[in-house]
Amino acid sequence: MNILENISLKPYNTFGIDKIARFFVAVKSIQELKEAIEWAKSQKIKLLILGGGSNILLTQNQDALVIKIEVEGIEVVQEDDDFYWVEVGAGVIWHDFVLTSIKNNWAGIENLSLIPGTVGASPMQNIGAYGVEIKDVFTSLKALNIETLQLEEFDSKACSFGYRESIFKHALKGKYVICSVVFRLKKVPVFHTAYGAIKETLEKSGISELNIKNISDAVIHIRQSKLPDPKEIGNAGSFFKNPTIPLEEFERLRNHYPSLPGYPATDGIKIPAAWLIEQCGWKGQRFGEIGVHSKQPLVLVNFGGGDGNEIKKLAQDIQQSVLGKFNISIYPEVNFI
Ligand code: FAD
Ligand code: EPU
Repeated sequence: MNILENISLKPYNTFGIDKIARFFVAVKSIQELKEAIEWAKSQKIKLLILGGGSNILLTQNQDALVIKIEVEGIEVVQEDDDFYWVEVGAGVIWHDFVLTSIKNNWAGIENLSLIPGTVGASPMQNIGAYGVEIKDVFTSLKALNIETLQLEEFDSKACSFGYRESIFKHALKGKYVICSVVFRLKKVPVFHTAYGAIKETLEKSGISELNIKNISDAVIHIRQSKLPDPKEIGNAGSFFKNPTIPLEEFERLRNHYPSLPGYPATDGIKIPAAWLIEQCGWKGQRFGEIGVHSKQPLVLVNFGGGDGNEIKKLAQDIQQSVLGKFNISIYPEVNFI
């Protein structure tokens, strides 16, 4: 175990925020993870668990041991006539897993192509895109209890998945390290092309016969045309979650704003926060080194030397203006650390 001291976290978060970790270690196995946690406990030092750093906003130096999860492995652990059950190490890059699934004809996660980050973080907020969430293919996960250092298994129910939510962001926050996840992938694919521009993109490319590779390519194409590449402009994807409002409230607002988009959700109508933010005039605004992306106002960006606290303040200003104009509260998806 190689514990480093005073390490800049800039290369380890997609916002590119330059904060210092007092201690830093990368772990490649559960044994190394246990040793790192024991070391932090013996030194009475806090822990910060890190995957790809694509859903965090660093607002301070971390007086902690930052543990970067690099536990690898993709293994078929069970199979029947219809499904493969695949266990994946928490440190595997999510998109590498998607590409492996496409190569092997394991269907179900093609719509989740190109989402940054690691497999271990995917249950944290039940990652989703283009009409699919990981809860749709999730079977179970193994997580290390930080207090007892025992591995425990969680099924889907125990994870309490919701829209960009799980129990690990709430009641069990900071208590477990996810070490591996088992996904149930289909032998015969069921295509999800109704969402967003997938159908249109496939048609434009002249594709008539669907397969999971075509769908993955279409999703990649759409994402690349809309979302900024963190290698070029620092960001963490959607900064806020899309709010859901009651139907009556939606109808009342639509009388004032006939172009208001809305999608039926289980508990009301889901409104794109991007639309609300754009209506408040934020789209494409730049404030020194930070700003609101010009193509997708739900994405806050760091052009270079931006600070986490500046982005936090911008996020609060945006929340206030959306609340002031529409009386709708929007909440961050990104984890402030
Ligand atoms: P990190 O940012 O490293 O960590 C996120 C949180 O999880 C932190 O609180 C961390 O402490 C905790 N954590 C990480 N790993 C573990 C672990 N093994 N055990 C316990 N806790 C852990 N998300 C979507 O859902 N859909 C999208 O379409 C999408 N698009 C994006 C596009 C861009 C350009 C970017 C930059 C981000 C996007 N995101 C999207 C957000 C992000 O990709 C996901 O939230 C991803 O799952 C984060 O993974 P990560 O490994 O980078 O997590
Ligand atoms: N819109 C505007 N102005 C814009 C852009 C979008 O008004 O400049 C409105 C339009 O009405 C558009 C709607 O917002 O139809 C939705 O936009 P988009 O399809 O880009 O999706 P989104 O709601 O902004 C969500 C997820 C993304 C996910 C995509 C595709 C959330 C918070 N975000 O974005 O996830 O990739 O749908 O499924 O749910 C993430 O979580 O980080 C993320 C990128």
